[in-house]
Amino acid sequence: MRILVVEDDPKSARLIKDILELRGYVVIEASNGLSAMRIINDHIPDLIFMDMNLPGMDGITLTKLIKTSSKTNNIPVIALTAAAMKGDRSRFIQAGCDDYISKPFHVKDILDSIKKYGKAEEQKTIKHPPIVLVADDRPENIELISATLSPMGYAIIKSANGVQAMEKIRTLRPDIAMINVFMPELNGIEVCKSIKSDEQYASIPVIMITALNDADSKMKALSVGADEFLTKPIDRYELMVRVGNLLNVKKHIDNLNNQIVEKTKELKKVILELKEANINIVYRLSRAVEYIDNDTGNHNIRVSKYVMSIADGMGFTKEEVEKISIASSLHDIGKIGISSLILLKPSSLTAEEFEQVKKHTQIGSTLLTNSGSKLLDMAGQIALTHHERMDGTGYQHGLKTDSIPVEGRITALADVFDSMTIKRPYRDALPVDQTVEYIKSKAGTQFDAHITDVFLRHLKDILDIKYMIKA
Ligand SMILES: [Fe+2]
Ligand SMILES: [Fe+2]
Repeated sequence: MRILVVEDDPKSARLIKDILELRGYVVIEASNGLSAMRIINDHIPDLIFMDMNLPGMDGITLTKLIKTSSKTNNIPVIALTAAAMKGDRSRFIQAGCDDYISKPFHVKDILDSIKKYGKAEEQKTIKHPPIVLVADDRPENIELISATLSPMGYAIIKSANGVQAMEKIRTLRPDIAMINVFMPELNGIEVCKSIKSDEQYASIPVIMITALNDADSKMKALSVGADEFLTKPIDRYELMVRVGNLLNVKKHIDNLNNQIVEKTKELKKVILELKEANINIVYRLSRAVEYIDNDTGNHNIRVSKYVMSIADGMGFTKEEVEKISIASSLHDIGKIGISSLILLKPSSLTAEEFEQVKKHTQIGSTLLTNSGSKLLDMAGQIALTHHERMDGTGYQHGLKTDSIPVEGRITALADVFDSMTIKRPYRDALPVDQTVEYIKSKAGTQFDAHITDVFLRHLKDILDIKYMIKA
């Protein structure tokens, strides 16, 4: 797989090149927009990592050019962006970038982008060599290890001290680390401790290189998580076997971890689909009620959106807001048990007819509760209590104040506001200001005073919803 890196900062360019070449990718480099354009047309890379802040032609212009040419528009472009340019990210996506990575980037970001955007077929054929980091202040030790492992197809990263070793662990993420216990600056025990105590690198196997009878160092290394030991003078055969064994174990662990990540992704997708299907069913059910209780077009959806705005204003969590809002859309579902002759009557109801209508709260509750779903249980509570009043003069049970569930109190207000401001068979829609005055006058008696306050504070949002979701 050919990857183009367009980057004017030599240090960043070098780093990406190292990360990729160590893993068997072919890297082409360009340090400015014009030379990048020439390379893209001549070589058609499979993927482009592009710094957005380039001299001359900037990354946005270059991306637009790539994405408007039929020859190159299929090449994924990953923007490399400075953290300070956060606000500009939507511009990169609009220009055609497929994704972005913030600097300072991590090896994982680069490799994940390739996994996501690189051609799947080509990725299968790439088998990157195992990458071995060797940290030792004695060049002859590094050379011996390198001379043994390189012919076997390993890629070797060399470090002369502990600080350098840590930097390479972070930037190049080797598959295994061989670390001498005694090194200047940061000794091997400290390096091993840093690797093993960081969740990102802890899975990298560490082989400590110690002197033959240095039991003390071995104990220290074991206590900070070292996986294996090699004693000096290093035996080549032992070196090959120990490295091979540890890499095999790591491969199995990596495979298992990848499977867990993939399965978790699939599971999350299924859960999300189920959740969406549930929400969809609830909203469609609420629409069904409107066919019976005619002329209330979209009443239930509007009520659920008002409830969302109020619940959000009251400080409920995002999940709670969503749940209350969806549940409230079914508040009148019990009307399917009421005669449409009464519901559609173009004049005021008799006392007896009103008694019939009042039953919709109980019918709704019976329909929704005890299904085993928490969402439907809440919807049942709302159906039962959305005509209760704070002073106990409401129905179904004449509940007072806090004995009315909060989701019922919120829905009660949202329901009255919407019902009063829409046309009904027996009267015209009332003006918004008159309805708001009515609600204010009933704060503390019909409606919860605090909920009324929140409603008034969010009136602008509520009116936006009202005009957006018309009958
Ligand atoms: Fe109702
Ligand atoms: Fe209603």
